[in-house]
Amino acid sequence: MLGPHRSDRTRPLVIRRAGPADAEAIARVYVDSWRQAYRDQLPASYLDKLDYAAFERHWRQTFAARGWAFVAAEGDAVVGIASGGRARRQNLASGEIYVLYVLADRHGHGIGRGLFDACHFELAKRGHGGMLIWVLASNPARNFYEHLGGKRVAENTLTIGGTQVREVGYLWRD
Ligand SMILES: CC(C)(COP(=O)(O)OP(=O)(O)OC[C@H]1O[C@@H](n2cnc3c(N)ncnc32)[C@H](O)[C@@H]1OP(=O)(O)O)[C@@H](O)C(=O)NCCC(=O)NCCS
Repeated sequence: MLGPHRSDRTRPLVIRRAGPADAEAIARVYVDSWRQAYRDQLPASYLDKLDYAAFERHWRQTFAARGWAFVAAEGDAVVGIASGGRARRQNLASGEIYVLYVLADRHGHGIGRGLFDACHFELAKRGHGGMLIWVLASNPARNFYEHLGGKRVAENTLTIGGTQVREVGYLWRD
């Protein structure tokens, strides 16, 4: 446990390490966040097809393969998720945050920062030098990463749901 974070709800908000028992809740937050965050950025047909059960399997496999994640929980309710590991492209940094999502109705309460800090610390503890995050160029979350000190260092184009999108890489050096 990494301790309580700011919350305006009666249940204390806790950022804690996640495990296989959280796979279902993580999949729910992941899919719901994609639908909330990307509805103006990715095709609706693609977002509609995202499958909770498939993502639950994915997260169970991630934990079975010694992957790690953190959840933000208010009582039994998971409201935010984050995970990271070895950077997919090693030329800029060796660590990467792969996933960072907070449910829309819980934005603005310090949860994203708490999850970001937990991942940053975890990557450093595991010996990674530098940390990258990739974000869609059209995503306002870019401003969040700039606010947290990320430096824009790379760009990339990828295809999601048959649509070409641009993503931007942000770097935190140690
Ligand atoms: C981006 C996201 C994770 C931020 O989480 P959050 O819990 O709302 O953010 P916090 O409340 O922890 O904010 C921390 C700081 O960042 C600032 N901030 C938050 N969102 C911001 C934004 N979009 N632009 C600029 N600053 C932002 C806050 O004002 C706060 O500043 P302060 O601590 O100096 O007062 C959340 O909005 C989210 O999940 N968005 C949708 C999904 C997404 O796009 N994820 C990123 C995928 S790469």
